[in-house]
Amino acid sequence: MADERLVVGFCCNECAYAAADLAGSTHRKHPANVLIVRIPCSGTVDPAWILYALAKGADAVFVAGCRKGECHYVDGNLKAEERVEFLKQLLDAIGVEPDRVEMFFMAASEPHKFVAAAEEMSSRLNRLPPLDRKPVLRVPKKKENFAESLRSIAKMVKEVRLVPVPGFEIPLFSEECIGCGACAEACPEGALRFEDSKDLRIIYLSASKCVGCGKCVDVCKENKVEALKLGGMTVKQLLEEWSKGPEMKLVRCELCGRPFATSKEIERANSQKICPDCKEKLSARAISMGRVRG
Ligand code: FES
Repeated sequence: MADERLVVGFCCNECAYAAADLAGSTHRKHPANVLIVRIPCSGTVDPAWILYALAKGADAVFVAGCRKGECHYVDGNLKAEERVEFLKQLLDAIGVEPDRVEMFFMAASEPHKFVAAAEEMSSRLNRLPPLDRKPVLRVPKKKENFAESLRSIAKMVKEVRLVPVPGFEIPLFSEECIGCGACAEACPEGALRFEDSKDLRIIYLSASKCVGCGKCVDVCKENKVEALKLGGMTVKQLLEEWSKGPEMKLVRCELCGRPFATSKEIERANSQKICPDCKEKLSARAISMGRVRG
């Protein structure tokens, strides 16, 4: 029964594919229903490919890369592991058994590990019912990237709160954030935006733009921005173009009445409630008065 159903294995060229090759040349048997797709590195696997394989007929998909610490492209296998973990959560959220997807690690000299991976995935199909593709899996468009493919299934799983996945980190603002905007200036991806509207300063975050570089955390003088595992967010927040972060009340300038800074910023700077423009005018006036007197 299981052998009639298809397992697709994305195998990195350097180790996993070489291990599969060695399994063949040393006459080790593995299940015939495993279709190998040779890829340069497991880190090149886009979750959209896995969804595509499941949507188009595979009942299980695995990604196989080099052993941890031995990826020929530094850490492609670790990235692949994170993506597989993340995808498992999304599949679970839309009612597809996460066991249909797995990550394996092996060296080129370990054909037995390839055979074990193929057998494991094939035997899982004995325990799993046939995959009901219609309501939950749609075929991703040809050029869809990771974010787009996730967006396409997000409609069904909007309120699901993800558990922490290593490697996916986005900034989280604590209550003590003073709203200075240094993090937004430091973000090379433009994933943070500070907007002043009327009497409020609102921080917006684009989780889909955030690459988790941590520059916002490094630059925060207050140490109030912390790297948060993606798990703190709902899928909806993750996929929204911009999700709303904290809101801070703005203080009005005592001279011109224009809202210009948060109360915590003023407190921190230990300064008067006078905006930079008015301060400049005041000091220019003081200088010219000094000249007249002189
Ligand atoms: Fe094998 Fe990257 S080269 S996982």
